[in-house]
Amino acid sequence: MLFDFEKILQVINFFFLALALLAVYYYAYRLQVELRRSEFLKKEAQKYQDLVNATTEGVLQFDEEGHFTILNQSGARCLGYEDPQEILNDSITVYHFLVDPDKKKQLCQIVKKNGELKNHIVQIKKKNGEVIYVSLSLHARVHGDGNPILYEGIFHDVTHQVVLEEELWNYSTRLEKLVQEKTDEILQLERKRFHLEKMAAIGQMAATLVHEIRSPMSSMKMALTLFQKKKEIFLEKERRVMELAVQECQRIEAMLKDVLDFARPQEIRLVAQDLHDVLDQVVERMKPAFQGKKIHFKKDWDSRMPLVLVDAERLLQVMVNLLQNAIDAVMPEKGEIQLRTQYIEKDGICRIETIDNGMGIPEEDLPKVFDPFFSKKPGGTGLGLSVVQKIVEAHRGRIQIESTVGEGTLVRIELPVESPKFHFQ
Ligand SMILES: Nc1ncnc2c1ncn2[C@@H]1O[C@H](COP(=O)(O)OP(=O)(O)OP(=O)(O)O)[C@@H](O)[C@H]1O
Ligand SMILES: [Mg+2]
Repeated sequence: MLFDFEKILQVINFFFLALALLAVYYYAYRLQVELRRSEFLKKEAQKYQDLVNATTEGVLQFDEEGHFTILNQSGARCLGYEDPQEILNDSITVYHFLVDPDKKKQLCQIVKKNGELKNHIVQIKKKNGEVIYVSLSLHARVHGDGNPILYEGIFHDVTHQVVLEEELWNYSTRLEKLVQEKTDEILQLERKRFHLEKMAAIGQMAATLVHEIRSPMSSMKMALTLFQKKKEIFLEKERRVMELAVQECQRIEAMLKDVLDFARPQEIRLVAQDLHDVLDQVVERMKPAFQGKKIHFKKDWDSRMPLVLVDAERLLQVMVNLLQNAIDAVMPEKGEIQLRTQYIEKDGICRIETIDNGMGIPEEDLPKVFDPFFSKKPGGTGLGLSVVQKIVEAHRGRIQIESTVGEGTLVRIELPVESPKFHFQ
Protein backbone atom coordinates (compact mmCIF):
# COMPACT_ATOMS: atom_id res chain seq x y z
CA MET A 1 0.00 0.00 0.00
CA LEU A 2 1.47 3.19 -1.23
CA PHE A 3 -0.71 5.62 0.94
CA ASP A 4 -1.60 5.05 4.54
CA PHE A 5 -4.97 6.85 4.61
CA GLU A 6 -5.31 6.48 8.29
CA LYS A 7 -2.07 8.34 8.88
CA ILE A 8 -2.98 10.99 6.40
CA LEU A 9 -6.33 11.51 8.16
CA GLN A 10 -4.54 11.75 11.48
CA VAL A 11 -2.22 14.43 10.13
CA ILE A 12 -5.16 16.40 8.68
CA ASN A 13 -7.05 16.17 11.98
CA PHE A 14 -4.02 17.34 13.85
CA PHE A 15 -3.60 20.23 11.44
CA PHE A 16 -7.23 21.40 11.86
CA LEU A 17 -7.03 20.98 15.57
CA ALA A 18 -3.90 23.12 15.67
CA LEU A 19 -5.60 25.69 13.44
CA ALA A 20 -8.68 25.79 15.70
CA LEU A 21 -6.48 26.18 18.74
CA LEU A 22 -4.60 29.00 17.05
CA ALA A 23 -7.86 30.74 16.19
CA VAL A 24 -9.15 30.34 19.73
CA TYR A 25 -5.88 31.70 21.05
CA TYR A 26 -6.01 34.61 18.63
CA TYR A 27 -9.59 35.55 19.52
CA ALA A 28 -8.86 35.24 23.22
CA TYR A 29 -5.91 37.54 22.74
CA ARG A 30 -7.98 40.07 20.77
CA LEU A 31 -10.70 39.96 23.40
CA GLN A 32 -8.18 40.65 26.09
CA VAL A 33 -6.74 43.61 24.13
CA GLU A 34 -10.22 45.01 23.50
CA LEU A 35 -11.16 44.59 27.14
CA ARG A 36 -8.03 46.41 28.24
CA ARG A 37 -8.67 49.17 25.72
CA SER A 38 -12.26 49.65 26.74
CA GLU A 39 -11.18 49.69 30.38
CA PHE A 40 -8.60 52.32 29.53
CA LEU A 41 -11.18 54.35 27.61
CA LYS A 42 -13.66 54.00 30.46
CA LYS A 43 -11.06 55.27 32.89
CA GLU A 44 -10.13 58.14 30.57
CA ALA A 45 -13.83 59.01 30.09
CA GLN A 46 -14.30 58.98 33.85
CA LYS A 47 -11.26 61.24 34.25
CA TYR A 48 -12.66 63.59 31.63
CA GLN A 49 -16.09 63.48 33.29
CA ASP A 50 -14.49 64.20 36.70
CA LEU A 51 -12.53 67.06 35.21
CA VAL A 52 -15.63 68.53 33.55
CA ASN A 53 -17.60 68.16 36.77
CA ALA A 54 -14.83 69.64 38.90
CA THR A 55 -14.51 72.85 36.87
CA THR A 56 -16.29 75.95 38.13
CA GLU A 57 -17.18 76.86 34.54
CA GLY A 58 -20.43 75.57 33.15
CA VAL A 59 -19.64 73.12 30.32
CA LEU A 60 -22.30 72.41 27.74
CA GLN A 61 -22.85 70.73 24.43
CA PHE A 62 -26.07 70.90 22.46
CA ASP A 63 -27.36 69.93 19.04
CA GLU A 64 -28.88 72.01 16.26
CA GLU A 65 -32.30 72.01 17.98
CA GLY A 66 -30.71 73.19 21.22
CA HIS A 67 -31.11 69.88 23.11
CA PHE A 68 -28.35 69.37 25.69
CA THR A 69 -25.99 66.47 25.05
CA ILE A 70 -23.51 67.42 27.76
CA LEU A 71 -24.00 69.61 30.81
CA ASN A 72 -21.78 69.56 33.87
CA GLN A 73 -22.64 70.15 37.51
CA SER A 74 -21.55 73.83 37.53
CA GLY A 75 -23.57 74.48 34.38
CA ALA A 76 -26.69 72.92 35.91
CA ARG A 77 -26.22 74.95 39.11
CA CYS A 78 -25.78 78.13 37.11
CA LEU A 79 -29.13 77.40 35.44
CA GLY A 80 -30.75 76.79 38.82
CA TYR A 81 -30.79 72.94 38.86
CA GLU A 82 -29.19 70.63 41.41
CA ASP A 83 -28.43 67.80 39.02
CA PRO A 84 -27.54 68.05 35.30
CA GLN A 85 -29.62 64.91 34.68
CA GLU A 86 -32.77 66.93 35.40
CA ILE A 87 -32.04 68.87 32.23
CA LEU A 88 -30.42 66.08 30.22
CA ASN A 89 -33.34 63.69 30.81
CA ASP A 90 -35.90 66.33 30.10
CA SER A 91 -36.30 67.85 26.68
CA ILE A 92 -35.40 71.36 27.85
CA THR A 93 -33.46 73.22 25.16
CA VAL A 94 -30.68 75.70 25.70
CA TYR A 95 -32.86 78.42 24.09
CA HIS A 96 -35.49 77.94 26.81
CA PHE A 97 -33.22 79.91 29.17
CA LEU A 98 -32.75 82.98 26.95
CA VAL A 99 -34.55 86.11 28.22
CA ASP A 100 -34.53 87.64 24.75
CA PRO A 101 -35.79 85.03 22.25
CA ASP A 102 -34.16 86.95 19.38
CA LYS A 103 -30.76 86.16 20.90
CA LYS A 104 -31.06 82.56 19.60
CA LYS A 105 -30.84 83.67 15.98
CA GLN A 106 -28.08 86.12 16.77
CA LEU A 107 -25.93 83.56 18.63
CA CYS A 108 -26.31 80.92 15.91
CA GLN A 109 -25.44 83.44 13.24
CA ILE A 110 -22.23 84.48 15.00
CA VAL A 111 -21.11 80.89 15.57
CA LYS A 112 -21.97 79.87 11.99
CA LYS A 113 -20.13 82.86 10.58
CA ASN A 114 -17.01 82.85 12.76
CA GLY A 115 -17.00 79.20 13.83
CA GLU A 116 -16.95 80.40 17.43
CA LEU A 117 -18.27 82.92 19.93
CA LYS A 118 -16.11 84.39 22.68
CA ASN A 119 -17.20 85.83 26.04
CA HIS A 120 -20.58 86.93 24.78
CA ILE A 121 -22.78 88.38 27.56
CA VAL A 122 -26.25 86.85 27.50
CA GLN A 123 -29.19 87.41 29.83
CA ILE A 124 -30.76 84.17 31.01
CA LYS A 125 -33.66 83.19 33.24
CA LYS A 126 -32.90 80.53 35.86
CA LYS A 127 -35.26 77.74 36.90
CA ASN A 128 -36.60 79.90 39.78
CA GLY A 129 -37.24 82.85 37.44
CA GLU A 130 -34.21 84.85 38.55
CA VAL A 131 -32.62 86.75 35.68
CA ILE A 132 -28.82 86.67 35.51
CA TYR A 133 -26.05 87.51 33.05
CA VAL A 134 -23.69 84.81 31.79
CA SER A 135 -20.54 85.06 29.73
CA LEU A 136 -20.80 82.43 26.99
CA SER A 137 -18.07 81.03 24.71
CA LEU A 138 -19.05 78.52 22.03
CA HIS A 139 -17.60 76.74 19.05
CA ALA A 140 -19.23 74.63 16.42
CA ARG A 141 -18.32 71.00 15.74
CA VAL A 142 -18.72 70.90 11.99
CA HIS A 143 -20.01 68.06 9.78
CA GLY A 144 -18.22 66.97 6.58
CA ASP A 145 -20.58 69.20 4.55
CA GLY A 146 -19.55 72.23 6.61
CA ASN A 147 -22.78 72.46 8.63
CA PRO A 148 -22.49 72.45 12.42
CA ILE A 149 -23.68 69.30 14.09
CA LEU A 150 -22.97 70.21 17.65
CA TYR A 151 -22.22 73.36 19.60
CA GLU A 152 -20.04 73.14 22.67
CA GLY A 153 -18.51 75.58 25.04
CA ILE A 154 -18.35 77.09 28.50
CA PHE A 155 -20.32 79.71 30.44
CA HIS A 156 -20.33 81.33 33.86
CA ASP A 157 -22.37 83.80 35.90
CA VAL A 158 -21.15 87.40 35.48
CA THR A 159 -24.19 89.16 36.98
CA HIS A 160 -22.17 90.70 39.80
CA GLN A 161 -19.63 92.09 37.37
CA VAL A 162 -22.31 93.42 34.95
CA VAL A 163 -24.24 95.07 37.80
CA LEU A 164 -21.01 96.62 39.12
CA GLU A 165 -20.12 97.86 35.64
CA GLU A 166 -23.63 99.29 35.21
CA GLU A 167 -23.40 101.02 38.59
CA LEU A 168 -19.97 102.34 37.75
CA TRP A 169 -21.26 103.64 34.42
CA ASN A 170 -24.24 105.28 36.14
CA TYR A 171 -21.96 106.85 38.72
CA SER A 172 -19.57 108.17 36.10
CA THR A 173 -22.48 109.57 34.01
CA ARG A 174 -23.95 111.22 37.11
CA LEU A 175 -20.54 112.53 38.06
CA GLU A 176 -19.99 113.90 34.57
CA LYS A 177 -23.40 115.61 34.70
CA LEU A 178 -22.66 117.04 38.13
CA VAL A 179 -19.28 118.35 37.03
CA GLN A 180 -20.91 119.89 33.95
CA GLU A 181 -23.65 121.50 36.07
CA LYS A 182 -21.13 122.88 38.55
CA THR A 183 -18.90 124.19 35.73
CA ASP A 184 -21.91 125.92 34.15
CA GLU A 185 -22.85 127.36 37.55
CA ILE A 186 -19.32 128.67 38.10
CA LEU A 187 -19.23 130.13 34.59
CA GLN A 188 -22.58 131.81 35.16
CA LEU A 189 -21.47 133.21 38.51
CA GLU A 190 -18.23 134.39 36.94
CA ARG A 191 -20.19 136.12 34.16
CA LYS A 192 -22.52 137.69 36.72
CA ARG A 193 -19.58 138.87 38.83
CA PHE A 194 -17.91 140.38 35.78
CA HIS A 195 -21.20 142.07 34.80
CA LEU A 196 -21.70 143.46 38.32
CA GLU A 197 -18.13 144.75 38.46
CA LYS A 198 -18.59 146.38 35.06
CA MET A 199 -21.89 147.93 36.18
CA ALA A 200 -20.35 149.22 39.40
CA ALA A 201 -17.44 150.81 37.52
CA ILE A 202 -19.75 152.37 34.92
CA GLY A 203 -22.08 153.53 37.71
CA GLN A 204 -19.26 155.23 39.59
CA MET A 205 -17.93 156.89 36.49
CA ALA A 206 -21.43 158.04 35.47
CA ALA A 207 -22.15 159.45 38.95
CA THR A 208 -18.90 161.48 38.91
CA LEU A 209 -19.66 162.74 35.41
CA VAL A 210 -23.22 163.78 36.34
CA HIS A 211 -21.92 165.58 39.42
CA GLU A 212 -19.39 167.52 37.30
CA ILE A 213 -21.92 168.45 34.59
CA ARG A 214 -24.89 169.25 36.85
CA SER A 215 -23.66 172.51 38.45
CA PRO A 216 -22.50 174.28 35.25
CA MET A 217 -25.69 172.97 33.63
CA SER A 218 -27.92 174.55 36.33
CA SER A 219 -26.01 177.83 36.06
CA MET A 220 -26.48 177.87 32.27
CA LYS A 221 -30.20 177.10 32.59
CA MET A 222 -30.63 179.77 35.25
CA ALA A 223 -28.87 182.37 33.08
CA LEU A 224 -31.00 181.45 30.08
CA THR A 225 -34.22 181.69 32.14
CA LEU A 226 -33.11 185.09 33.37
CA PHE A 227 -32.49 186.25 29.80
CA GLN A 228 -35.92 184.88 28.78
CA LYS A 229 -37.55 187.09 31.42
CA LYS A 230 -36.10 190.15 29.67
CA LYS A 231 -37.73 189.23 26.37
CA GLU A 232 -38.03 192.80 25.12
CA ILE A 233 -34.29 193.37 24.75
CA PHE A 234 -33.91 190.43 22.35
CA LEU A 235 -34.93 190.01 18.76
CA GLU A 236 -37.50 187.36 17.83
CA LYS A 237 -34.77 185.20 16.24
CA GLU A 238 -32.62 185.41 19.39
CA ARG A 239 -35.60 184.52 21.58
CA ARG A 240 -36.21 181.38 19.52
CA VAL A 241 -32.54 180.34 19.89
CA MET A 242 -32.83 180.88 23.64
CA GLU A 243 -36.02 178.80 23.79
CA LEU A 244 -34.21 176.01 21.97
CA ALA A 245 -31.23 176.25 24.34
CA VAL A 246 -33.55 175.94 27.40
CA GLN A 247 -35.19 172.86 25.82
CA GLU A 248 -31.80 171.29 25.21
CA CYS A 249 -30.82 172.01 28.84
CA GLN A 250 -34.00 170.26 29.99
CA ARG A 251 -33.18 167.30 27.75
CA ILE A 252 -29.68 167.06 29.20
CA GLU A 253 -31.15 167.31 32.73
CA ALA A 254 -33.52 164.44 31.99
CA MET A 255 -30.63 162.44 30.65
CA LEU A 256 -28.57 163.17 33.76
CA LYS A 257 -31.50 162.00 35.88
CA ASP A 258 -31.50 158.70 33.91
CA VAL A 259 -27.78 158.31 34.48
CA LEU A 260 -28.20 158.95 38.20
CA ASP A 261 -31.10 156.50 38.35
CA PHE A 262 -28.82 153.93 36.84
CA ALA A 263 -25.84 154.79 39.04
CA ARG A 264 -27.67 155.02 42.36
CA PRO A 265 -28.53 151.88 44.32
CA GLN A 266 -32.21 151.09 43.88
CA GLU A 267 -34.02 151.64 47.14
CA ILE A 268 -37.23 149.68 47.10
CA ARG A 269 -40.17 150.27 49.44
CA LEU A 270 -42.62 147.48 49.05
CA VAL A 271 -46.29 148.17 49.72
CA ALA A 272 -49.27 145.93 48.90
CA GLN A 273 -50.75 147.52 45.78
CA ASP A 274 -53.55 146.99 43.33
CA LEU A 275 -51.30 146.29 40.35
CA HIS A 276 -53.93 147.41 37.85
CA ASP A 277 -54.23 150.80 39.59
CA VAL A 278 -50.48 151.33 39.14
CA LEU A 279 -50.68 150.23 35.49
CA ASP A 280 -53.64 152.57 34.86
CA GLN A 281 -51.47 155.43 36.15
CA VAL A 282 -48.76 154.36 33.68
CA VAL A 283 -51.26 154.44 30.82
CA GLU A 284 -52.44 157.87 31.93
CA ARG A 285 -48.89 159.18 32.09
CA MET A 286 -48.09 157.80 28.62
CA LYS A 287 -51.11 159.44 26.93
CA PRO A 288 -49.08 162.36 25.50
CA ALA A 289 -46.64 159.89 23.91
CA PHE A 290 -49.53 158.24 22.03
CA GLN A 291 -50.92 161.54 20.83
CA GLY A 292 -50.84 162.20 17.09
CA LYS A 293 -50.11 158.53 16.37
CA LYS A 294 -52.48 155.84 15.16
CA ILE A 295 -51.35 153.23 17.65
CA HIS A 296 -53.93 150.71 18.74
CA PHE A 297 -53.47 150.17 22.47
CA LYS A 298 -55.07 147.26 24.30
CA LYS A 299 -55.21 146.34 27.99
CA ASP A 300 -55.66 142.72 28.99
CA TRP A 301 -55.97 142.47 32.78
CA ASP A 302 -56.21 139.19 34.74
CA SER A 303 -59.18 139.73 37.05
CA ARG A 304 -57.85 137.20 39.59
CA MET A 305 -54.82 139.37 40.36
CA PRO A 306 -54.33 139.72 44.13
CA LEU A 307 -52.66 142.70 45.83
CA VAL A 308 -48.97 142.68 44.95
CA LEU A 309 -46.06 143.93 47.10
CA VAL A 310 -44.35 146.50 44.89
CA ASP A 311 -42.76 149.92 44.99
CA ALA A 312 -45.41 151.74 42.91
CA GLU A 313 -43.11 154.65 41.91
CA ARG A 314 -40.39 152.29 40.70
CA LEU A 315 -42.86 150.04 38.87
CA LEU A 316 -44.24 153.13 37.19
CA GLN A 317 -40.72 153.98 36.03
CA VAL A 318 -40.27 150.44 34.67
CA MET A 319 -43.53 150.42 32.73
CA VAL A 320 -43.04 153.94 31.33
CA ASN A 321 -39.67 152.82 29.95
CA LEU A 322 -41.12 149.66 28.42
CA LEU A 323 -44.11 151.42 26.88
CA GLN A 324 -41.85 154.18 25.51
CA ASN A 325 -39.64 151.51 23.89
CA ALA A 326 -42.73 149.86 22.37
CA ILE A 327 -44.01 153.22 21.04
CA ASP A 328 -40.57 153.94 19.55
CA ALA A 329 -40.53 150.51 17.89
CA VAL A 330 -43.94 150.46 16.17
CA MET A 331 -44.99 152.25 12.99
CA PRO A 332 -46.97 155.33 14.08
CA GLU A 333 -49.69 154.64 11.50
CA LYS A 334 -50.33 150.96 12.21
CA GLY A 335 -48.80 150.22 15.57
CA GLU A 336 -50.31 147.76 18.01
CA ILE A 337 -49.32 147.64 21.66
CA GLN A 338 -50.77 145.37 24.29
CA LEU A 339 -50.30 145.53 28.05
CA ARG A 340 -51.16 142.19 29.63
CA THR A 341 -51.21 140.90 33.21
CA GLN A 342 -51.41 137.35 34.44
CA TYR A 343 -51.53 135.83 37.90
CA ILE A 344 -49.67 132.52 38.17
CA GLU A 345 -51.08 131.25 41.41
CA LYS A 346 -49.06 128.02 41.70
CA ASP A 347 -45.77 129.95 41.52
CA GLY A 348 -47.03 132.93 43.52
CA ILE A 349 -46.00 135.40 40.84
CA CYS A 350 -47.61 138.10 38.74
CA ARG A 351 -46.63 138.59 35.14
CA ILE A 352 -46.71 141.90 33.31
CA GLU A 353 -46.10 141.87 29.57
CA THR A 354 -45.80 144.52 26.91
CA ILE A 355 -46.30 143.19 23.40
CA ASP A 356 -45.74 145.28 20.30
CA ASN A 357 -45.77 144.68 16.56
CA GLY A 358 -42.73 146.86 16.02
CA MET A 359 -39.44 146.37 14.20
CA GLY A 360 -38.16 143.73 16.66
CA ILE A 361 -34.64 143.25 17.98
CA PRO A 362 -31.99 141.46 15.91
CA GLU A 363 -30.81 138.21 17.53
CA GLU A 364 -27.24 139.48 17.94
CA ASP A 365 -28.51 142.55 19.88
CA LEU A 366 -30.70 140.63 22.34
CA PRO A 367 -27.88 139.85 24.82
CA LYS A 368 -26.81 143.53 24.80
CA VAL A 369 -30.10 145.37 25.34
CA PHE A 370 -29.71 145.37 29.15
CA ASP A 371 -26.16 146.77 28.91
CA PRO A 372 -25.96 150.43 29.96
CA PHE A 373 -25.55 152.86 27.08
CA PHE A 374 -26.57 150.29 24.47
CA SER A 375 -28.95 152.13 22.20
CA LYS A 376 -29.87 152.00 18.56
CA LYS A 377 -32.01 155.10 18.72
CA PRO A 378 -30.84 158.54 17.73
CA GLY A 379 -30.82 160.49 20.99
CA GLY A 380 -31.35 157.37 23.15
CA THR A 381 -29.17 157.05 26.24
CA GLY A 382 -29.44 153.28 26.31
CA LEU A 383 -30.08 153.35 30.04
CA GLY A 384 -33.82 152.54 29.98
CA LEU A 385 -33.61 148.76 30.06
CA SER A 386 -30.62 148.63 32.44
CA VAL A 387 -32.58 150.73 34.98
CA VAL A 388 -35.66 148.53 34.37
CA GLN A 389 -33.59 145.40 35.02
CA LYS A 390 -32.15 146.85 38.23
CA ILE A 391 -35.60 147.75 39.57
CA VAL A 392 -37.07 144.34 38.64
CA GLU A 393 -34.18 142.51 40.30
CA ALA A 394 -34.54 144.69 43.41
CA HIS A 395 -38.12 143.34 43.58
CA ARG A 396 -36.61 139.83 43.36
CA GLY A 397 -38.30 139.46 40.01
CA ARG A 398 -37.00 138.67 36.55
CA ILE A 399 -37.28 140.13 33.08
CA GLN A 400 -37.19 138.35 29.74
CA ILE A 401 -37.38 139.59 26.15
CA GLU A 402 -38.61 137.60 23.15
CA SER A 403 -38.33 139.32 19.82
CA THR A 404 -38.50 138.62 16.10
CA VAL A 405 -37.25 141.14 13.59
CA GLY A 406 -40.15 142.50 11.52
CA GLU A 407 -42.77 140.92 13.78
CA GLY A 408 -42.45 142.52 17.19
CA THR A 409 -41.27 142.23 20.75
CA LEU A 410 -42.59 140.80 23.98
CA VAL A 411 -41.11 141.99 27.26
CA ARG A 412 -42.11 139.86 30.24
CA ILE A 413 -41.68 140.86 33.87
CA GLU A 414 -42.35 138.40 36.65
CA LEU A 415 -42.60 139.63 40.23
CA PRO A 416 -43.28 137.65 43.38
CA VAL A 417 -46.73 138.55 44.70
CA GLU A 418 -45.41 138.49 48.26
CA SER A 419 -41.81 139.67 48.60
CA PRO A 420 -39.72 139.12 51.72
CA LYS A 421 -39.73 142.40 53.78
CA PHE A 422 -38.04 145.52 52.42
CA HIS A 423 -34.87 145.04 50.55
CA PHE A 424 -32.24 147.34 49.16
CA GLN A 425 -29.92 146.84 46.26
N1 LIG B 1 -39.84 147.05 22.18
C1 LIG B 1 -38.69 147.15 21.51
N2 LIG B 1 -38.67 146.94 20.18
C2 LIG B 1 -37.51 147.02 19.48
N3 LIG B 1 -36.31 147.31 20.04
C3 LIG B 1 -36.28 147.54 21.35
C4 LIG B 1 -37.45 147.48 22.18
N4 LIG B 1 -37.08 147.73 23.44
C5 LIG B 1 -35.75 147.95 23.43
N5 LIG B 1 -35.26 147.86 22.18
C6 LIG B 1 -33.86 148.00 21.75
O1 LIG B 1 -33.05 148.00 22.91
C7 LIG B 1 -32.24 149.17 22.95
C8 LIG B 1 -32.01 149.56 24.40
O2 LIG B 1 -33.22 150.00 24.99
P1 LIG B 1 -33.17 151.01 26.20
O3 LIG B 1 -34.54 151.29 26.62
O4 LIG B 1 -32.21 150.47 27.20
O5 LIG B 1 -32.46 152.27 25.59
P2 LIG B 1 -33.08 153.31 24.56
O6 LIG B 1 -34.55 153.13 24.46
O7 LIG B 1 -32.31 153.19 23.31
O8 LIG B 1 -32.73 154.65 25.25
P3 LIG B 1 -33.42 155.27 26.56
O9 LIG B 1 -32.31 155.30 27.56
O10 LIG B 1 -33.89 156.57 26.14
O11 LIG B 1 -34.50 154.35 26.98
C9 LIG B 1 -33.03 150.15 22.14
O12 LIG B 1 -32.18 151.16 21.59
C10 LIG B 1 -33.62 149.29 21.05
O13 LIG B 1 -32.69 149.08 20.02
MG1 LIG C 1 -35.78 153.04 26.19
